[in-house]
Amino acid sequence: MMCVAMIRIGVLGSGKGSNFAALQKAVEAGLVCGETVLVLSDNPGAGILELARAAGIASGVIEEPRYRTKLSPEVEEATAGMLMEAGVELLVLAGYMRMVKEPLLAAFPGRIVNIHPSLLPKFPGLESWKQALDAGEKETGCTVHYVDAGMDTGPVIAQERVPILPGDTASSVHARIQEAEHRLLPRVVADICRTLAAGPR
Ligand code: GRF
Repeated sequence: MMCVAMIRIGVLGSGKGSNFAALQKAVEAGLVCGETVLVLSDNPGAGILELARAAGIASGVIEEPRYRTKLSPEVEEATAGMLMEAGVELLVLAGYMRMVKEPLLAAFPGRIVNIHPSLLPKFPGLESWKQALDAGEKETGCTVHYVDAGMDTGPVIAQERVPILPGDTASSVHARIQEAEHRLLPRVVADICRTLAAGPR
């Protein structure tokens, strides 16, 4: 694919990193006008850090001893600083389990996207696949959206639907959603990078 420019992508994640892996596969296949320049995790044991190291991408740990659901302002400020220093232009939250606050929002206005495992605005928050199953939904899915100060509330960019089938368990629904996430996130990031690369830098 012809790219006018390569967008510098930063990734935050807390978990195993399967969404990051799917994104990185697309980047390495040349399907994205972008390159992943930094992966940070608030969980020192997260699989996403191992994957980043294996891919030869700069990575680091965000140390937050005080809170579990957000970063303290000074830690978030330092995180924003690291990302800016790496020249990050698009920040992807790939299974990052904390709320994002002003220091990051102000550093990357309109440039932070998140993947969430439900058809937002339905089922924000934790274990949304289980929420959908428990609510008796016949379908659920995943959403990529811009991040704002709320919990999974920012403008929706794209969604993929998946069915909830008879006999499904929370884990079978989650697995089906994750397959959809691994298609949706790389596709949306590719679209955004193409648009950003074509615009003024
Ligand atoms: C994904 O289901 C994502 O939607 C959620 O956390 C999970 C992260 O999985 N919020 P992984 O670390 O990308 O494998």
